Amino acid sequence: MSVLFRSFINKGRKNLFKKLLNSTQSTCRCVFFRKYSGSEKKFVSFDEIVSQRRSEAKRSIVVQVNSQASFKELYGYCSKYATIKDVHHYKNNNDEHFMLIEFGSEESLQDVLRSCSTHQKDLDTMANNSPFLWFRTANGKTESYATPTTVLASINGIEQVNEDKLFKELVDCETVSDQIQLLYDRTRLNDLGVRLRYMVARQIECMLESLYANVAVRPFGSSINGFGKMGCDLDLVLTNTLTDEMTKAGSRLVFQSARVEGGRAPWARHMQALGELLELRAAGAARVQRILNARVPIVKFAHHYTDLECDLCYNNMSGVYMSELLWLFGSLDDRVRPLTFAVRRWARAVGLTNPHPGRWITNFPLTLMVLFFLQQKTNDGHVLPTLKNLVRRAGKEDIRIAEENLNCTFLRDMNKLPPECYAQNKANLQTLLLQFFEFYSQFDFQDKAISINEGISVRKPNSLPLYIVNPLEQALNVSRNVSFEECERLKAEVRNAAWQLEAGMDKQKGDDWGLLGLVEKKTTRGLKKLLRVGNSHRLVSVKDLFNDTDDRIPEDSVKSKVE
Ligand code: CTP
Ligand code: MG
Repeated sequence: MSVLFRSFINKGRKNLFKKLLNSTQSTCRCVFFRKYSGSEKKFVSFDEIVSQRRSEAKRSIVVQVNSQASFKELYGYCSKYATIKDVHHYKNNNDEHFMLIEFGSEESLQDVLRSCSTHQKDLDTMANNSPFLWFRTANGKTESYATPTTVLASINGIEQVNEDKLFKELVDCETVSDQIQLLYDRTRLNDLGVRLRYMVARQIECMLESLYANVAVRPFGSSINGFGKMGCDLDLVLTNTLTDEMTKAGSRLVFQSARVEGGRAPWARHMQALGELLELRAAGAARVQRILNARVPIVKFAHHYTDLECDLCYNNMSGVYMSELLWLFGSLDDRVRPLTFAVRRWARAVGLTNPHPGRWITNFPLTLMVLFFLQQKTNDGHVLPTLKNLVRRAGKEDIRIAEENLNCTFLRDMNKLPPECYAQNKANLQTLLLQFFEFYSQFDFQDKAISINEGISVRKPNSLPLYIVNPLEQALNVSRNVSFEECERLKAEVRNAAWQLEAGMDKQKGDDWGLLGLVEKKTTRGLKKLLRVGNSHRLVSVKDLFNDTDDRIPEDSVKSKVE
């Protein structure tokens, strides 16, 4: 534990702490908790959530319509074929309207799909079945349809929050904790956002089902790890694992399989073909790019109907297990996700992260930094357990081996984790955010590595500026790409943020108080204000340090695992 962090807790800035603690216990929402009898929380497993989402997608379609007003007609038309569970409306960036319809069962969906037709106008079009459809105008005759028995589950369901409105709401909050919670509630990926991500996965899965046995396409990364915000990219992984059933030795009739010949690895050829298939067969996929030389080769594409930027990789199950791990940590305590959102948002605002890959830190290692901070033991205990603890408690049912024999075994059922292993420290979000900045202000980046496996800093095995141990592959550093300058920038910005937050806690201080001063795009406003209130001697001028904040040249758009 860093000296400052310890002294911050021990020296007892009593007044500040009292004030902070009084405003604790923010009104967090449990996204995927179920409440059972009594007040006891029961954790739902990641696998349960994923299978629920996959099954939802298997009984859903997305239909392009004229407008929101098409709901009644579309509902009436589809309910002739099957029972409808829910209908969500959204618009994409081109102002085109869509309805996601969830049917009662997969069989119902099949009945609907059998009633669909293919657009004949274009002779170059080869028919294919896909869960993305459009609703043709009625052919002259007017049919009467049943009145919907339900209302639209969402209208404009993926519209992102208006920034001005959000900032106004943040100004009006009572405490910094409320601001952090509000930012999370308003910007986190919503139900429809998740559904659409699973729909794109399902579309590609349907396309590949007849080509590969036991194929699955799953979302991973921020789309499902609980740390995704509205509009985040969609990471997808394609797997076609052989099941025990498929490889049973007793069976004498064995499928002939095609041999892939030539110099390149078979998977590279398949990824190449996948790029072609996306271009030719996946309605809505555009701007397909094959990036096959990266450590984790990917095919990138944009999905027009859902406005998603997608990265599809092959057999990268460790990415899925990593997402599961992050999801589990996020589900253990209601403060983890809002705090991470605040940190990610701050990092974006001060230019530490950048949408393009390059020499700077990205959201994933930043999230590991938050988790690591929450594992630190304070006088009150810690918020999160170490990964080592979860590994130690794993049972047979938790064994998972990913590609290249990577052991991804850790406790999956958080109900088995004794309560004393987490959420001991009850500090509110405001306190935690300030402590986060204080902690990293004093962290010994020079010699130490961040490891959520250990929960304490470990000696760096090399001199790379920033070292964050890959939790599932401990010999690797997830922030290997971060340059010396970017690491210095990180150090300077956490120091600035600590002072800025501490000086700006008081709501009376104007419209950039609390979190606002940290997350507004141009932090210079906040900095100017700090200079006014006499903290100038404490501030590190990031601009002076590096002369120009915009001198960073994004590397080519290769997105890869960066170890
Ligand atoms: N991942 C990993 N090892 C890395 C980088 C990424 O295992 N060195 C996995 C993580 O599960 C991560 C996912 O790949 O969540 C996707 O990576 P990325 O898109 O960079 O991060 P996200 O968490 O999806 O965040 P963002 O919202 O910025 O896309
Ligand atoms: Mg991502």
